[in-house]
Amino acid sequence: MKFFIDSADLGDIKKALALGLCDGVTTNPSLVAKTGRAFGDVLKEIVALVPGPISAEVTATDAEGMLKEAHHYAKFGEQVVIKIPLIVEGLRAVKVLSSEGIKTNVTLCFSAVQALLAAKAGATYVSPFVGRLDDISQDGMALIADIVQIYRNYAFDTQVLVASVRHPVHVLAAAKLGAHVATIPYSVIEQLAKHPLTDAGLKKFLADWEKVPREGK
Ligand code: E4P
Repeated sequence: MKFFIDSADLGDIKKALALGLCDGVTTNPSLVAKTGRAFGDVLKEIVALVPGPISAEVTATDAEGMLKEAHHYAKFGEQVVIKIPLIVEGLRAVKVLSSEGIKTNVTLCFSAVQALLAAKAGATYVSPFVGRLDDISQDGMALIADIVQIYRNYAFDTQVLVASVRHPVHVLAAAKLGAHVATIPYSVIEQLAKHPLTDAGLKKFLADWEKVPREGK
């Protein structure tokens, strides 16, 4: 299972890289807005740091506008993946980009039939948003299970990129279902490493170590 970091923050991306937990990066307009910087400048720096797939999201809502932005961002580096919203115009754009060999990540996916359309359009990745479904009392992980099953039934190449991940249980469930990728905020990446028994065990070992005579004494 691949781990992408869900962030446009260079500091977070560097920290995830240092842990070996950054197979790629996803950004979106809200994450970019948090940086307070122009997206082109941020994207250039991420491309210089990360060899894996980096999603850059278009903001046009018509296929022609999306294609224009896609062709611009694709020039930043071969690892750039164009992130396109799951609307009819978006599917049109994905079809064209797929025929041009430009990788796509179809985002804002909230149903399994939407994911089926993304795969049929030739998307490289589909991003179902599990946290936002949970927020409205729907079952985000049930959507992942449905998409994984449908893609397996028909041997689609589109990869399931679990997005809107809010906590470690989302990551665990995504891994058990066989999702290809989870895109995870840095705070959740850190949470994955933590367990209270690890902390308690370490504290006890260090306390006991103080009782052990030092060498040569
Ligand atoms: C990533 O591709 C998505 O844009 C992101 O995971 C959305 O997360 P949120 O629902 O926490 O904003």
